[in-house]
Amino acid sequence: MRIALLGGTGDIAEGLVLRWSKAGHEIFIGSRSDEKAKGIAAEYIEKLKVHGIEPRIHGMPNADAAKHAEVVIISIPPEHAAATVSQIRDSFTDQVVVTPVVSMKREGKTFLFNPPAQGSSALEIKAALPETAKLVSAYHNLPAKELSEIDKTLDYDVVICGDDDGAKEIVKKLTEDMPNLRVLDAGSLEVSSMIESMTPLIVNLNVRYKPQHFSVKFV
Ligand SMILES: NC(=O)c1ccc[n+]([C@@H]2O[C@H](COP(=O)([O-])OP(=O)(O)OC[C@H]3O[C@@H](n4cnc5c(N)ncnc54)[C@H](OP(=O)(O)O)[C@@H]3O)[C@@H](O)[C@H]2O)c1
Repeated sequence: MRIALLGGTGDIAEGLVLRWSKAGHEIFIGSRSDEKAKGIAAEYIEKLKVHGIEPRIHGMPNADAAKHAEVVIISIPPEHAAATVSQIRDSFTDQVVVTPVVSMKREGKTFLFNPPAQGSSALEIKAALPETAKLVSAYHNLPAKELSEIDKTLDYDVVICGDDDGAKEIVKKLTEDMPNLRVLDAGSLEVSSMIESMTPLIVNLNVRYKPQHFSVKFV
């Protein structure tokens, strides 16, 4: 598939770009800076060549990346995600759009869920998108560092939600291209606040129990 990552130069995007390239997808790295996007794209191409992979990765401004893609990942910090989507709204038609965005605040040593007025980052982003775009909420609890180690098997669950079953099916297939992630569909986009709010809980556990590292697995 043709997959764009807005803010594709950042931490969570790296593992997604590398793993989906390994699975044969074509990647469009979006950025506020064309030069930065092209530089990161070149870096990831070199990294993958070492693994014997000939990837199709292109760097470009966020608006162009979204236009090229069938699936668009919003890999941008929470305070700028919806605003970025609004700025490039004309680039969206009927793409599947995926939000891993979680809004947290820190009080002392503790991370807390800090949702926007809409109740979740997913609902905030949905309001910024045209109605034709199909939003799926996913990947909130994947650790960026482990994701970027592409030979590492990730024995975690990815809880997703959204209002379009076809879009969720596409996200399920893309997720299963990353061994051994399992997708659990939690229902409509309204559920996203519950999934998003697990992230600060996991971050607090990871700080407390370092060097152990937790993600999500339902048994
Ligand atoms: N890191 C994780 O482990 C993790 C895990 C799950 C979910 N998430 C979620 O994924 C999203 C991205 O997280 P991240 O850790 O990858 O973030 P990040 O590395 O801090 O930033 C990602 C990219 O966002 C762009 N960006 C930064 N400031 C911006 C602004 N003012 N306006 C527009 N774009 C801006 C930058 O790209 P350019 O400079 O190239 O434009 C940057 O490379 C967040 O919403 C986070 O909640 C993260």
